[in-house]
Amino acid sequence: MLFFHTSKIVEFLYLWGMLKKVLVTGGAGYIGSHTVVELFNAGYEPVLLDDFRNSNESVIDGLSNILGDRPELLKHDVCNTDYLRDYIRKHEVCGIIHFAAYKAVGESVENPLRYYQNNVEGLVSILKMVSENPEIPFVFSSSCTVYGEPQGQKEVSEKTPKTIPTSPYGFTKWLGEKIIDDLFFSQKKLRLMSLRYFNPIGAHSSTQIGELPIGKPNNLLPFITQTAAGLHEKLTIFGDSYPTIDGTCVRDYIHVVDLAEAHVKALDYLINAKDGCHEIVNIGTGNGSSVLQVVNTFEKVNDIKLNYEFGPNRPGDVIEIYANVDYAKKLLGWSAKKTINDAVKDAWNWEKSIRSIK
Ligand code: WQD
Repeated sequence: MLFFHTSKIVEFLYLWGMLKKVLVTGGAGYIGSHTVVELFNAGYEPVLLDDFRNSNESVIDGLSNILGDRPELLKHDVCNTDYLRDYIRKHEVCGIIHFAAYKAVGESVENPLRYYQNNVEGLVSILKMVSENPEIPFVFSSSCTVYGEPQGQKEVSEKTPKTIPTSPYGFTKWLGEKIIDDLFFSQKKLRLMSLRYFNPIGAHSSTQIGELPIGKPNNLLPFITQTAAGLHEKLTIFGDSYPTIDGTCVRDYIHVVDLAEAHVKALDYLINAKDGCHEIVNIGTGNGSSVLQVVNTFEKVNDIKLNYEFGPNRPGDVIEIYANVDYAKKLLGWSAKKTINDAVKDAWNWEKSIRSIK
């Protein structure tokens, strides 16, 4: 058996070089690496394009342990269009999934030009490859931040009007969707999809890959697991007097493996699409959870008492948002299967594995 967890068919196709290559930019990142695994499990050959400016090369070792072999790695900047053009010319690439981008809301406010250069220039570069190779379908990593603070309706569907996001990060996603719309208007045969993620959390159950924030985490769950691991004295819950179920902000937390599987479904859809399109799809669970509910769930599932306090509201925070996921079900036949209990358990197991905690 060449690989663990793979079917004989995948092994046969791999041995005969018949697996279809999928270019995954930012493939060593949190969502990218989990998508690499699910692409492989679905019979594709993921090819990682990553220059490790915002990820760790150790991820490749974790992926190798899961896949049973080192995935193909192209250690290049996504803006290196000469290299990309040459690679695509020499290899049969059946799809491109574009993750490579910075994604910390707070950091983007402090360093906007870094975000505009990396997120927008990188997207335009990879879209040039799509434009030159219109037979290759393209999936874009977008975000629920394009909704901003939903006016009145907490549950947002793809028809909910977008608002110009307040953070440069959110604006790069808003602009990204517009750029893709404009490209599609000029080349109607292109098959394009933007997936609007809600809040990805958790890790692969193997504890071989997971979230690896560089520096102090901005996001809730890695801060919770690092606090539980003793890296921080306590968690500060930003705000406890919002007009929500318990005064803390509400989000749609989706297990990263469910999110990864949604990308496979998106690619399958585009590969089989007869006509050109730019589809926009919410990828969430359809349920909202408050910060305090996440903390309490983490404590209960992992039998841990977390040290936390309530602090001031965090500027720019949306009060409450969660996804209407009807379209993902209708278009892709996809819905989230894992629960927030699964996610906080997998996240803690991952944290323990990287900190060598028993
Ligand atoms: C969630 C809640 C915080 C840390 C994220 C990603 C963004 C996009 C949308 C994909 C908020 C609270 C957090 C802490 C806290 N995803 N919190 N204490 O802001 O919803 O944005 O999802 O594109 O990329 O950043 O996520 O995890 O930062 O915050 O109380 O130490 O947790 O105030 O209410 P956010 P987050």
